[in-house]
Amino acid sequence: MIPRHIGIIMDGNGRWAERRGLPRKEGYAAGLAALRKVLGRAAERGVETVTVYAFSTENFARPEEEIRAIVKVADAFDRSYDGDMRVSYMGDIYAFGDEFAEGVESVEARTAGNPGLRLNIAFGYGGRADIVNAAKRAADKGDFTEEDFAANLSSAGLPPLDLVIRSGGEKRLSGFMLYEAAYAELWFTDALWPDFDGDALDEAIASFEGRERKFGA
Ligand code: IPE
Ligand code: IPE
Ligand code: MG
Repeated sequence: MIPRHIGIIMDGNGRWAERRGLPRKEGYAAGLAALRKVLGRAAERGVETVTVYAFSTENFARPEEEIRAIVKVADAFDRSYDGDMRVSYMGDIYAFGDEFAEGVESVEARTAGNPGLRLNIAFGYGGRADIVNAAKRAADKGDFTEEDFAANLSSAGLPPLDLVIRSGGEKRLSGFMLYEAAYAELWFTDALWPDFDGDALDEAIASFEGRERKFGA
């Protein structure tokens, strides 16, 4: 079965640029180009939703200039996107200023009725922060089940997370969808994100298709 919802930790952009003697910010532009291709292949393969990790709550610790470069790439995407995907964000988009938030709201509104792949962008997002926020909201309502709780996460309304892909060689989640990944299949590659392509996605999907998912039973 094809995964309905794939999460991608797009790591290795900075190293990709450094290895070419380029400023790290060039890695983020190259990363967006790779993402466009991967999303095209995901749509062809019948994947419903792709959530990409583009900026973590911990990434606020990066140098100001690097943060600005990442925000600029995302903002340019938001303002220019005119394809058939439905684009949404999860995370604290207001932490990046009003202008960025306005671009996010614009792309979400423009694409809300689109028939294509759902692209969900985790930006200013951290799994721990998301769980804590959900807990606060759920607690306000009193006694709650796992299902009630999950309805308060930023991922509410998305299909269950089936597969998490991480590029860049590290084998960790770095705070990505901690609650949702409980039974996701994991796939890691040493490829740096700008070098990741449709064939690499096919490889990850093929691996997923060969897994036996037991969910504890
Ligand atoms: C991951 O790429 C994307 C963001 C953090 C925005 P990195 O910037 O972490 O790239 P590397 O891991 O340093 O190569
Ligand atoms: C994870 O990558 C976050 C994103 C891809 C947005 P990092 O580069 O920030 O993760 P660590 O620091 O290696 O764990
Ligand atoms: Mg990294």
